[in-house]
Amino acid sequence: MPAEDPSRRDGTAGGSTLVSEARESIAARPYAEGEPILEVRGLVKHYPLTRGILFKKQIGAVKAVDGVDFDLAAGETLGIVGESGCGKSTVAKMLVHLEPPTGGVIRYKGEDVTKLSGRALKAVRRNIQMVFQDPYTSLNPRMTVGDIIGEPYEIHPEVAPKGSRRQKVQDLLDVVGLNPEYINRYPHQFSGGQRQRIGIARGLALNPEIIVADEPVSALDVSVQAQVVNLLDRLQGEFSLSFVFIAHDLSIVRHISDRVGVMYLGRIVEIGTDEEIYDHPTHPYTQALLSAVPVPDPTAREYRERIILHGDVPSPAAVPSGCRFRTRCWKAQERCELEVPLLAVPAVFRDTDTPARHDSACHFAEEKRVVPPEGTLETPEPQDAPKPPRAAPSPDAGPSPDTPSPDRREPGEEDR
Ligand SMILES: Nc1ncnc2c1ncn2[C@@H]1O[C@H](COP(=O)(O)OP(=O)(O)OP(=O)(O)O)[C@@H](O)[C@H]1O
Ligand code: SF4
Ligand SMILES: [Mg+2]
Repeated sequence: MPAEDPSRRDGTAGGSTLVSEARESIAARPYAEGEPILEVRGLVKHYPLTRGILFKKQIGAVKAVDGVDFDLAAGETLGIVGESGCGKSTVAKMLVHLEPPTGGVIRYKGEDVTKLSGRALKAVRRNIQMVFQDPYTSLNPRMTVGDIIGEPYEIHPEVAPKGSRRQKVQDLLDVVGLNPEYINRYPHQFSGGQRQRIGIARGLALNPEIIVADEPVSALDVSVQAQVVNLLDRLQGEFSLSFVFIAHDLSIVRHISDRVGVMYLGRIVEIGTDEEIYDHPTHPYTQALLSAVPVPDPTAREYRERIILHGDVPSPAAVPSGCRFRTRCWKAQERCELEVPLLAVPAVFRDTDTPARHDSACHFAEEKRVVPPEGTLETPEPQDAPKPPRAAPSPDAGPSPDTPSPDRREPGEEDR
């Protein structure tokens, strides 16, 4: 298994021109950090359910995505989390135009891109790229790494004219921490973590402004996950990228996200800054997800309330009336069956000035801290005497600040 060259992980070794070029092109862009680069409103994807072979008749629809709203600010990382089947990948595919939406609007820099076609669409697609979940199946085994990373230049030759492509690809390998001399190798000659680095390099090839990463670390060994998350984090700052980072559990996204949206059965049910979501969740589903986040410290674990959700996620072809979470919610009342809760600041928090004042689609939203906030756990002495404050471990999967960065590993260490 080939080892990486650690000297190349800062993305500037080997005389790389890519970062400076990318920076120049980013500097020329009109959008400033903090402005919404992407606005998603009422996004819907319904797949028709049909019966019959010759004469197909629609008998229903799989409501994979059923009215998703969010903004992505320039330079921001938005984490999207939710259980399997809640529609995360379908949202991702619509954002990068791999799937046409059934309804709703995706505005990129103010323009609705769902209506674009031809050259205008091609230009937008260049700026919104995807990193896929599975580095084993998303890379063509018959193509060299150089061909895989350089393939987008066939469609966008203006980004890298033919004579400069090899150098561009080598620069990209360098930026993601792989040895540029591996350009002629095939995917099977790399480990899972290294393959995901190749997928990331391909995503960066066209100097995009937005990267949609669909569970980029889920298929990787736990020990490698933090390395790839750290790489994405570093690239985000280096290239001023805006990120939509999809994961199925809250522990992975905390390390990298500025804001987090929690999805359930085709909709976002709660969205806010990472502090609002992790330390002041108000939606029962978010609270249940948080209660499942691994807490390594045994003392902190004692203070974590475990909420076990009963029943399965309903089929997206038969979404419950009213609140779609009501069949599993321990707080459900009659109103929940009759009235769809909107994603907005709940009335009870509207006039407050607390972190609980963020969008949550629940009629009976209530703040409930499930895990102790980072670094502030206070535990009482067994003999009633108050104990001095004790640092709670981060529930995220990323390394603590004291852990050496994987991007500064010793020579010889490598992704697995
Ligand atoms: N082409 C399709 N035709 C019919 N149904 C589909 C299609 N693609 C996805 N679905 C359904 O839409 C729902 C959402 O799927 P999606 O892949 O977006 O979920 P997900 O949140 O990404 O799940 P996972 O965490 O397992 O990747 C699922 O019920 C899935 O079966
Ligand atoms: S609206 Fe009702 S069912 Fe839905 S999450 Fe809130 S309390 Fe539970
Ligand atoms: Mg998925």
